[in-house]
This record gives sequence, structure tokens and C-alpha cells, in this order.
Amino acid sequence: MPTALIILAAGQGTRMNSDLPKVLHKIAGAPLFAHALASGAALEADRTVIVVGHGADQVRKAAHEIDPDIEIVEQTEQLGTGHAVQQAQSHLADFDGDVVVLFGDTPFVHPETLTRMAEARAQHDVVVLGFETADPGRYGRLVMDGNQLSKIVEYKDASEAERAITFCNSGIKMASRETMFSLLDDVSNDNASGEYYLTEIAAIANKRGLSATAITCNEAETLGINTRAQLADAEMAFQRRARADALENGVTLLDPDTVYFSHDTYIGRDATIEPNVVFGPAVTVESGATIRAFSHLEGCHVGSGSIVGPFARLRPGAELSNDAHIGNFVEIKNSEIGEGAKVNHLSYIGDASIGAATNIGAGTITCNYDGVMKHRTEIGKGAFIGSNTMLIAPVKVGDYAMTATATVITNDVPDEALAIGRAKQVTKPGLAVKLFEKLKAAKAAKQKGS
Ligand code: UD1
Ligand code: CA
Repeated sequence: MPTALIILAAGQGTRMNSDLPKVLHKIAGAPLFAHALASGAALEADRTVIVVGHGADQVRKAAHEIDPDIEIVEQTEQLGTGHAVQQAQSHLADFDGDVVVLFGDTPFVHPETLTRMAEARAQHDVVVLGFETADPGRYGRLVMDGNQLSKIVEYKDASEAERAITFCNSGIKMASRETMFSLLDDVSNDNASGEYYLTEIAAIANKRGLSATAITCNEAETLGINTRAQLADAEMAFQRRARADALENGVTLLDPDTVYFSHDTYIGRDATIEPNVVFGPAVTVESGATIRAFSHLEGCHVGSGSIVGPFARLRPGAELSNDAHIGNFVEIKNSEIGEGAKVNHLSYIGDASIGAATNIGAGTITCNYDGVMKHRTEIGKGAFIGSNTMLIAPVKVGDYAMTATATVITNDVPDEALAIGRAKQVTKPGLAVKLFEKLKAAKAAKQKGS
């Protein structure tokens, strides 16, 4: 069955107390709505429509960064979840298939849960995702009559008896495009909130003699983010799962609770991650690599057998081949590091390429920025860059070339050449002692005077 996803993301999220629209707050480096999108991917939807309202332009931009084909419809006034879905009606007028409504602030629904809903749809006109909870709070209650879902009652509108129900509405709903919008036509705003509730479609379906049902998922999947505290809890829940997955996939974590993953971190088998490592978005670490303690990585690739850290920082565009060594207090940005190359101490390598087996001495810096533009440094293979070399880009150092310690490289160095560029040393015998005496005398005179 062709499927269209409708993701509701127009709400302000008042309780986040934020200038940022709620769905742009992040878990594991990805905005909330992107997690809902990722769950929805299980359904291989033909169309994806996001309903935006508060911070519409920001949400549109973020959505199109993920997928330019995402369709955006605007809900200029937030009149309720039913009204929000209706905004997609004309957009999907020519669509022949099922629509699935997801909430942009509900990030953890398992893809398999949506697949189960799609299976239930084969037998029912309307399928709602519900969950059992010990603490139903302000969730909408699912009123069941056997297998038939008779209606959904919002907390505010519920009787005491209905409030005692512990089977709750996750918000997620599935029906054919035709049924969904036809049911929505009859939704009114005659309720405690004065809103057009999407939940009302269950009762309307019953009135029309359609079959509606609810399937159940784990409460943890339906966690909706309304506050910063819930956002923090959700982040922790994500991290717990990511750590468990990494261990399961054959990654060694010395102290799992101190390692932080992004939504898309990939770590190969037999890699070792030491304590206090943070993975920002878009990191891949190949098998057998070691990330030592207190390192921060984002937008980078670490080849198999490489060693990074302790205290290393890999920024976007850092591409390490196999068996590279990046040591303490080294920052790498937008640079390729060749196989077996070493940058072991106190260096900044930016906008550069470094050939295989080249050694970069301590304190070396690629001076890539002239205050206006960035320039590249290219270093060949088997080269030796002396400690504290300043490479003023754009500049090239050839294969098997050397630079002397403390050299400032301003011109290209050919293959196999040695470049030395520093002031000649002058040594004055006995002068140190004379200077010490002079300085001590000056200090004594000053103390007497004061
Ligand atoms: C909703 C359900 C409730 C369910 C709960 C689960 C309704 C009426 N209630 O309540 O039964 O238990 O979710 O978390 O559906 N939104 C819009 N436009 C609007 C209103 C909301 O886009 O006009 C979006 C919000 O941005 C959010 C989602 O819809 O992503 C849910 O809205 P919210 O106001 O949080 O609904 P709840 O009160 O939590
Ligand atoms: Ca909510």
C-alpha cells in the first residue's frame, strides 16, 4: 500500500521555554522531528509532509537539509491536532494510499511498531497506536469495546471513570487518505480546549460503522517531549540504547556511561573507545581503531587500526586512513591523513593533505587562514615535518622532504629536499652570568627605594 507520512510539528512547545521551535531541539545531535522521520522510514513512504507553524521557516530549512523532497504545509493558527492534519488535505488530494500521522515531538517509536500498525490496517479502517501505563497523567484515554476502539477521550474532557483507564493514546494514527480526511471533515471544536482534536476521528468512525482498533507498544516508545527535563531524559534514554547497541556489535567501551553517541555514529567491530569520548554527528570509526580518553570527534572518518587521542579533536572533514596516529592536543579539520601517518603532539592541521607514513613533529601548525580566505597545505608521503614548523598555506611539501625544527615554510618544498628557515643561533660565552648579576642588582636597588 502506498503510504504518506504527515508529521505534526506546528506547536510552539511553550513548556520548553525557548526561542527555538520545539521540534528543532536535539536528541543525539538530530532535531526531534528527524527522529520521527527516521522511525517513519520503516514504512518506505512515497510522500512525507511536515505541518509547520511556530518557527515555520526554521523548521522548513532544517527539514530540507535532511531531504529536499520533504513537503511542507503551514498551519498558521494552531487550532488542534485534527486541524493540523487537515492542512495536508489539499496537498495529498491526488494521493491514493494510506496516511500515517506522526508527532514531531515523539522521537522513539520503533520502526517495527509502525510496521505492525500497517499490518493491522489490512483488517481495520482506522488504526491507533496505544500504550499501557501505570501513570496515565494527561494522555488521551483509549476506550475499547473488545477489539474495537469506540472513542478517544482527552484528559480534560474525561469522566472520573474514563480517567481511570490506563490504555493511552500515543498520537499516532493510520487510515486511508480518503477515510482520514473524510472523518476529519466531521471533527468539531466543541470540547474543553476548544480545539479540533485528531482523536475525535475514532468516535466518528464508530458512528459510521467503520472498524477502528488500537495496537499496543511499549510506553518508552511513545515518550513525548514537552519540557527540557523530558528532553534530557530522552537524551539519556537514547545514550543508554546506543551504548548497549555498541557493546552488542562488538565494540569495547571501557566506561560506557561516559561515552556519548550521535544518532548516526558508526563504530566498527573490535574498536575500543576509552572513557569520556564524545561523538558529534557523522562519525565513522572502522574496526580495530582505538579512540583514547577525552577525545571529541565530529564529521570525520577514522580508518581501521588508527589511534586517536587522548585529548584529540577531530572536526568535520577529518579523514584518517588506516593505522594513522593522532595524539594529544591535536586538532584536525578538513584534512586527509595518509596511511600510517603520525600527528602525535600539540598540532593544528586544517585544510591539508598528509601523505602516507609522514611524521608531523610536535607543535606543527598549518596556517590555513589569512583572515579572509582558507588555503590548503599539501604534504607528500614519507615526509618529516620538524617540530614547531609553521606551514603558511597555500604551500606544498614534497614526498620524502624534511623541514627543520621551527621553520616557517612560505614556499613550496620539492620532493626529497630539506627546508630550513629560522634565524641563525648566536652564542655569547659567559654572558648569562653577567646578565643575572645585572638584573639582581637592579631588583635590589628597586626594593631599597620602595
Ligand atoms: C496529544 C493527544 C493525546 C495524546 C498525546 C500523546 C490530541 C487531541 N491529543 O495530546 O490524546 O495522548 O498527544 O503525546 O491529539 N500540533 C500541531 N498543531 C496544532 C496542535 C498540535 O502541529 O494545532 C502538533 C504539536 O506540535 C505536537 C503534536 O501535534 O507535535 C501533539 O500536540 P500536543 O499539543 O503536544 O498534544 P497533547 O496535548 O500532548
Ligand atoms: Ca504532547
